[in-house]
Amino acid sequence: MKSFSPGPEHALELRAALGTFPTGVTVITAAPPVKGKVTPVAMTANSFTSVSLNPPLILWCPAQISARHDAFVNAVQFSVHILAEDQRAVAQHFARCGDDFSAIPHHIDPHGVPHLDGCVTRLDCTTEQVMDGGDHSIILGRVQSAHVTDARPLAFCTGRFSDVRVDT
Ligand SMILES: Cc1cc2nc3c(=O)[nH]c(=O)nc-3n(C[C@H](O)[C@H](O)[C@H](O)COP(=O)(O)O)c2cc1C
Repeated sequence: MKSFSPGPEHALELRAALGTFPTGVTVITAAPPVKGKVTPVAMTANSFTSVSLNPPLILWCPAQISARHDAFVNAVQFSVHILAEDQRAVAQHFARCGDDFSAIPHHIDPHGVPHLDGCVTRLDCTTEQVMDGGDHSIILGRVQSAHVTDARPLAFCTGRFSDVRVDT
């Protein structure tokens, strides 16, 4: 076992330590106004977590250094897509690029928010609160509607994607 106290000299080790926690993979989409024009944006994120059942609250955390950070912080509506095991390419695409939906099957909801096809679950949310979280922001969302399938989820751990083995 390797032990350390977090500090600038251990930034990579801290990232690796936190990355040993297995998560699902989401793509968050929104359509905030940019110069008065509704502008779709997406980001692959594994900081998503459930917070509360009643009221129905979830959160996720965009990095403040991200070029997409302000778009998400300013969005009134957003959608969380829990990706399916066959959507690794979607996860990789929206990790690289936040505004190109041309090769990704989707439709646009009445608020202009992109809804991606083929995910396990989609949660359509309104932004409840944005909090400071160090070098990230914490976006607390209220789930307005949930759309669930029985597809199998994609997982992420130690920097790698994997399928989830579901015991029956
Ligand atoms: C599996 C995975 C999970 C990620 N989770 C987050 C996250 O929770 N928050 C975040 O800010 N970036 C996360 N990222 C990074 C973003 O998807 C994206 O790569 C980053 O925002 C790129 O920087 P840019 O927005 O300046 O282009 C994740 C990337 C991957 C591949």
